[in-house]
Amino acid sequence: MKGIILAGGTGTRLHPITRAVSKQLLPIYDKPMIFYPLSTLMLSGLREILLITTPHDQDAFFRLLGDGSQLGVKISYVVQDQPNGLAEALILGEKFLDGEKCALILGDNLFYGPGLGTHLQENTGVEGALIFAYQVSDPSAYGVVDFDEQGNVLSIEEKPKEPKSNYAVPGIYFYDERASDFARHLVPSARGELEITALNNAYLERNELRVEVLSRATTWLDTGTHESLYEAGGLIRTLQHRTGMRIGDVEQIARDQGWI
Ligand code: TTP
Repeated sequence: MKGIILAGGTGTRLHPITRAVSKQLLPIYDKPMIFYPLSTLMLSGLREILLITTPHDQDAFFRLLGDGSQLGVKISYVVQDQPNGLAEALILGEKFLDGEKCALILGDNLFYGPGLGTHLQENTGVEGALIFAYQVSDPSAYGVVDFDEQGNVLSIEEKPKEPKSNYAVPGIYFYDERASDFARHLVPSARGELEITALNNAYLERNELRVEVLSRATTWLDTGTHESLYEAGGLIRTLQHRTGMRIGDVEQIARDQGWI
């Protein structure tokens, strides 16, 4: 399995900060935001990673991460000319994936929790598609998944006004070898984007979409608003001070994995 990090977008909710700087380069306490999703992929054992950026931000990401060799991983880059939606990542990444399975993670999503790396690693052999479910008090800002007691997905809806469950779909998705092909056949939504929910629905229609509930011990934050950015920084600071352990420290993870 290979990994893709989506770090393009316009970051309008963080204006004016993101007018000149990519959202995914902003600090979450003591590290750039991109370190957190990168560390999640590394903890899943993935070493071939594609970073999707806007045309004007690619140089800055390269200055930060280079080719990844200092972390024992291989980082490639591709530009997304316009923010055409999350599912476009699978089309832009088709050559990079070269027929392999893929973990797609959003560059502004932060995951933290005991056993998360192991949980993700156990699923890197995915057949069909796998999404995760995370209980939140107000899921209406997210993709919302409804499922039965056996974990069969009943529906996924993008930002529903009346959510059918309290389970949001966090920004990490596992796909088998067909994801790029399915993505190429999607039609843009009313807001003109290739929606990740549409790609997940393509798997659901074939009865090949699974969902796993993330343990309540897992923390999932998306950091796309001023409030959530501030909160995430505070949380990382508190956890690091309290435990003496570091979160999202990609160099330490590379060492722990024995990659450097
Ligand atoms: P969003 O937070 O949905 O969009 P955004 O980052 O452009 O911010 P805003 O809504 O405030 O304008 O995007 C989620 C993640 O996906 C984020 O890390 C940016 C990335 N992204 C892309 O790389 N390409 C895209 O076409 C879109 C829509 C998002």
